[in-house]
Amino acid sequence: MMNTFISNSPSDTRKLAAAAAKFLRGGEIIFLRGPIGAGKTVFVKALAKEMGLKGSPVSASFSIMKAYKSKTKKLFHVDLFRLEEREMFNLGFEEMLADENAVIAAEWPAPLENLINSPRLEMDFVLQGGDKREIIFKARGERAELLLKNLTEALNA
Ligand SMILES: Nc1ncnc2c1ncn2[C@@H]1O[C@H](COP(=O)(O)OP(=O)(O)OP(=O)(O)O)[C@@H](O)[C@H]1O
Ligand SMILES: [Mg+2]
Repeated sequence: MMNTFISNSPSDTRKLAAAAAKFLRGGEIIFLRGPIGAGKTVFVKALAKEMGLKGSPVSASFSIMKAYKSKTKKLFHVDLFRLEEREMFNLGFEEMLADENAVIAAEWPAPLENLINSPRLEMDFVLQGGDKREIIFKARGERAELLLKNLTEALNA
């Protein structure tokens, strides 16, 4: 399943994140692709806020991973820009993946693609000039399909 949304501003992108946040239960993986400045981080930060999570600084790997938490939920925001596959091993991905309360949102996910073939929601940000972005969602796996179906219905309602 695939679906395209148009964002005309950062606030549109945040609204999209707000809609998506309602359907995240923990255990989901989101890959965010697209060029520098496309709005991937804008989306993930809004996602954390809308899920009611607070950022907690994460020691040395801070620039690669940031954890957002509440008592019951977690969001791991990872940015793998220019990271080599072999550098992935010390990041604790197994733990993150095994955590059923955790949502993982990965920018520049290429190094992860060969390591995990878990079900996931993929987002492709395409620059359309000015502040306009085309955001293409693709669902891989049953659970991601359901998430995208719910999101599409919520946005069309
Ligand atoms: N429609 C839009 N959606 C999201 N951000 C937008 C939009 N239009 C303009 N912007 C601006 O574009 C920038 C997006 O920055 P952001 O850090 O989210 O990009 P990114 O995709 O995470 O880039 P990087 O690959 O460097 O991490 C912000 O300055 C934001 O205000
Ligand atoms: Mg970013």
